[in-house]
Amino acid sequence: MKVQICIGSSCHLRGSETIVKTFNRLLKEEKLEAQVELCGSFCMGACSKGVSVKIGENIYHVKPEDAEDFFREVIRKEAAR
Ligand code: FES
Repeated sequence: MKVQICIGSSCHLRGSETIVKTFNRLLKEEKLEAQVELCGSFCMGACSKGVSVKIGENIYHVKPEDAEDFFREVIRKEAAR
């Protein structure tokens, strides 16, 4: 499964780099590297309150401080499907 993280300027200012680091760390910890592919994306046209993260057709807005919860609640569950 592919998880796209926006690295456009607006999302960058909101902490996309921290989110990428957090997701990478958790992927290793949870041994999900084979199932989940992280990739960067240009602006998704959804600049909003958080960093845009796209999984399938869904775009989520994630704050760096919520990245760990988001990983556990959304990415881990999606990867287990
Ligand atoms: S910069 Fe991320 S959605 Fe626009």
